[in-house]
Amino acid sequence: MTGNLHDLTEVVDAALEKVAANLITFADVYPHDHTIDNSYRPRERVDDYPEGSNVGWTTGFWPGMLWLAYELTGSPEYRQAGLTHVERFRQRLADGVNIDHHDMGFLYTLTCVAPWRLIGDTTARSTALQAAEQLMTRYLEVPGILQAWGNIDDVRQRGRVIVDTLMNLPLLYWASLESSDARYHQAAYRNACRLRDHLVRPDASTYHTFYFDPVTGTPLYGRTEQGAADESCWARGQAWAIYGFALSYAYTCDVTFRDTACRVADYFLDHLPGDGVAYWDLIYTDSSGEERDSSAAAIAVCGLLELSGRLPDRTLSMHYSAEARRIFDSLYQHYSTAGLPTSNALLLQGVYNKPGGAGVDEGNLWGDYFYLEALARLAKTNWQPYW
Ligand code: GLY
Repeated sequence: MTGNLHDLTEVVDAALEKVAANLITFADVYPHDHTIDNSYRPRERVDDYPEGSNVGWTTGFWPGMLWLAYELTGSPEYRQAGLTHVERFRQRLADGVNIDHHDMGFLYTLTCVAPWRLIGDTTARSTALQAAEQLMTRYLEVPGILQAWGNIDDVRQRGRVIVDTLMNLPLLYWASLESSDARYHQAAYRNACRLRDHLVRPDASTYHTFYFDPVTGTPLYGRTEQGAADESCWARGQAWAIYGFALSYAYTCDVTFRDTACRVADYFLDHLPGDGVAYWDLIYTDSSGEERDSSAAAIAVCGLLELSGRLPDRTLSMHYSAEARRIFDSLYQHYSTAGLPTSNALLLQGVYNKPGGAGVDEGNLWGDYFYLEALARLAKTNWQPYW
């Protein structure tokens, strides 16, 4: 399906039709993390924050889609909408709204680094640098990690990293390049090394989360939150690892990250069902009756394409690129909402958190963002990552 330009144009048009409609629905409110009955509504009210507020870890994906749409169309409408989110994210940081976690990278890379890279917006640049500084408050020097969740003194969360952190590290690498302050790069690099050495198992599967002793730095044990079991392999986590290690390689040129990205990619690809779209945990197969996670597939496509572009071995590079296209084709043909007017998502059949009972067999914002990023990568030969 994505083999020729004509078909790809149709794929892009179908995706952009949804983004254009959502531009009106979500002009002043943020969508919820995931769809309910396959449709996004404004974010649910939480604590003192009214419906549609800019809280949580996912609100940056919608502005990220706007910047991708701007690149794919050149339309000033998307640029203008993207810039309104720069101001909202600047305000969120200034007000300290829900920023005590590791997800500053997800939030501020797509909302602020992207417009700085694309149109040189200086408010976006300074906000992204402040977000990097905020992320550094999570850095524990002795274990060399960014604590993912919870108050930094929370005994249940102290010393805990998660695989998703890999996607938050590019904000730090970028901040060092922008500011010439090596602290950010050093923290990101050490964190990536710790994840490479302990969160990736010998068979190249990954733990979702891993604990280090915060005082001695000793590696302790892995635990899951969103996977099927502590020793299973949560599909989205493995996809974050493919993309995250490929990006750490891009910023550091440390070939051990590239090799790790290849190993985790091979594990992911070896555990896919026939149609190339992973079940939400890689222990499951076609007879399991379990749900797919289309978002894991979309993230993996982007990670495989990033990795493919950075491999000196042409055969291996073409292998990952072909696998990425195979997965993308399956997403478009069997999981996308192209031609389905009843959904305002781009992808169906994602899983946010099966053990927690959230967003199971629904679309989700990050699945949609990475599906559109994959399209940008495939449609624009010189597309440059925001990460
Ligand atoms: N970063 C949270 C998740 O992937 O669900």
